[in-house]
Formats: sequence, C-alpha cells, structure tokens
Amino acid sequence: MAQRKSRDHHLFCNIGELLTLKGVARRDGRRVGEKDLSLIRRGCMVTEQGVIQWVGRERDLPSTVKKRAKIIDLGGRTVLPAFVECHTHLVFAGDRSEEFELRNQGVTYQEIARRGGGILSTVRKTKRASESLLLDLAQERVNRFTRQGVTTLEVKSGYGLTLRSELKMLRVISKLRGPRVVATFLGAHAIPPGVKSARSYLTSLGDGLSEVRKWADRIDIFVEKGYFGVEEAQPYLERAKKLGFELTIHADQLSLSGGASLAMECGAHSADHLVEVGAEEIARLGKSQTTAVLLPSADFYLKMRYPPARKLIEGGARVALATDFNPGSSPTQDLSLVGVLARLEMKMSQSEVLAAYTYGAASALGLSSQVGTLEVGKRADMVVVDGSWKHLFYQVGYHPVCEVWREGHRLSS
Ligand code: NIG
Ligand code: FE
Repeated sequence: MAQRKSRDHHLFCNIGELLTLKGVARRDGRRVGEKDLSLIRRGCMVTEQGVIQWVGRERDLPSTVKKRAKIIDLGGRTVLPAFVECHTHLVFAGDRSEEFELRNQGVTYQEIARRGGGILSTVRKTKRASESLLLDLAQERVNRFTRQGVTTLEVKSGYGLTLRSELKMLRVISKLRGPRVVATFLGAHAIPPGVKSARSYLTSLGDGLSEVRKWADRIDIFVEKGYFGVEEAQPYLERAKKLGFELTIHADQLSLSGGASLAMECGAHSADHLVEVGAEEIARLGKSQTTAVLLPSADFYLKMRYPPARKLIEGGARVALATDFNPGSSPTQDLSLVGVLARLEMKMSQSEVLAAYTYGAASALGLSSQVGTLEVGKRADMVVVDGSWKHLFYQVGYHPVCEVWREGHRLSS
C-alpha cells in the first residue's frame, strides 16, 4: 500500500546555505564566532508536527524520508532560525511624537516624566482606549514583526497601572495572533499619580498577582531612580516567584541602580538595558544564567551611550538584542536598525548579532530548548532569506526575509 504524504510531515530541500546555529547552542550563547553559526551548504531539513526530525546535507538525507514527506523546494535560498524579539511594549494607544520634538530641543526623558508626560501620558491614552481598538493597533504591530521574521515575541503590559487596566492589556496580549507570544506583566512600570509610595503601590500590585498569573508568565519591573528601588522591588519579585512567575528587570538603564545585581540574585531570566552597568556586575553576568538583553534603539533615541557589549561578551555573558518597541524611548520596530546599531556602536560582530537575536533572545525568555536554533527536537521556526545571510543587519530598513515558518506552517501577515 502506498504511504500517504502527511500534511504535517515536511521536507525542506534545496537550501543554498542553512545556518543551524548548533554551535551557538553548544556554547550556550557565550563568546560565539562565525563557525558557531554551523553553516551547511546544500542543506535540507525534515519536520514532523512542527518539530525538526532531521537536519543536514541533502546528499546525506535518508531515502525513506522523501516518500512520506511533503517536499518544499526553497530554490537555493538561505535558511536560518526565525528571530526572537524578547522585549516590547507594543500594546498602547496614541503616540509621543511631541515628546520626541521636546527631547530634540534638549528636554530629557526624566524631565518629561517629572512633568507628568512620558510613560504616564501613554497610560492616560491607553486607559481611555477600548479593548478592541487596542487589539487592532497591537495586531498590526505584531504583523510588522512577523514580516521581519519574528516567530517568538514578548509583549509587556505596563500602560494601565491599575489592576483593572493592566488586565485589559493582558487580555489584548492573549488575543494576538501569528507568532508565539510571551506575556509579561509590567504593572510596576511607573508609580501612578495619587499613590502614596512605590512600596504601597507594589504591595497592592502584589495582592493582585494570583489573578495576573492567569494571563502572564513573567513579571517585569522598572528598577530606577524615581521609579522602583531595589529594596521595594525585591520582596515584590520574591512574592511573584512563589506564584510561579519568571522574572525580568528593566535594569541599570538611566543610572546604576542595582537592577542587574537584583536580577541575578533573584534568578531572573534576563536583565534588560544595562547601559550603566558596572564592572562588578559585568563580571558576575559572565558567570550567571541571567541573559544580558541590550536595547540599542532606545539608547539611540534617548541619545545615551550604548551598553558595554564587548565587555559583557568577552566576560562570558550571554547577550540578546531587542527593539524595546514603545512610543517613548524606542518608537521603532526595526530589527535591522537594532542589529546595525549593535554592530556600529557596540562593535558586535555579525555572528554575535545573529546569535543574540535567536538563541540569546530565546534564553532571555526561557525558551532556548524550543527555539533559537535549528536542531533535532526543536520547533521548526525559520526564516527564508533572499540572498546571503551576510546581508542581514547591514542595510537599515531592508528586510530580505521572504518566508517565515513557525512550527512547520508558513506565517502570513
Ligand atoms: O524600556 N524604561 C522603561 N520603560 C520603557 C520606556 C517606556 C516608555 O517610555 O513608554 C523602556 O525604555
Ligand atoms: Fe522596555
């Protein structure tokens, strides 16, 4: 009896250059070089139910596979792991274009916040917006990431600042379609007006965490002068951990405020920003499981210096990159800008950028056993690129990604 070709059994063949990044995983994303991209010429890949079953050179493919699988000819193009965007604030209403103009005239991000603008101005607009408007706006932004090759996407709440409004944002996040979405609760993004202290706000947020747990897997907090200090953040994060949340921190962005140290102490998956991180923290990150998430487009827009990527990498830290997309400090969704800034301003090599936007970012989300490299047993999440992989993170605004696959299914947006 002839074997039926299964719809969920695919053979991707005629891949000119297949970058599996197997070597990056072997090095746990630390101190990676070009050889760790593990390039296979004339490669192919077999997937079943969205999971990779076989990957290697076409000429080594076992002949039995061809009979059962649906063959997908990729026309000699390049394939690499799909991108992981591990830090975004993409659910919001309105914009902050006027603030951009003000900052350009010399008013600082912090000064705008003190005047009641900044995060709080987006909070006002987001609170007023209906759930369906927020979803439409957010889904359009998600699609913009999908088109660039993102199949795993982190999305934070944080423009509600009351349990009710934050839950509205989390419901929106739960309805987003396309990539695999990781929802993060960032109720501790700023102190809402009228609240007595950071501590009392965090206590009340803490009381709502068991409800939040139904909608989010991760907790984030902005540890910074004028926002939340380490002393208040620590008990809040411990409380969250007991409820099974994974942790991440906006750390040492505007000043060395202890966020990175706290992230490592409480076993957070990531410490994000790290512009002002000190030598002591860099040394500890080199030995830590906490991933250093660098967000250079925020530094670009805020005209800050850039985080010490070379020191972090050479010290052995696992580094990830992300857009930090939000209407204030980083109003861009462009992965190519992030990668170009990482190369030009932070002196990261192209291989380091590729590893950071795949395996590194997957680690920041605790998902590196599932995505970020193309290896047997991992999800078949990949991008097909027109031309050489060397053209990635080179031309700002140019996205040579022509097909995006998530778990063996092609995503359209
Ligand atoms: O990552 N630093 C705190 N939060 C965001 C900014 C959010 C905003 O300005 O709306 C950030 O830069
Ligand atoms: Fe952020």
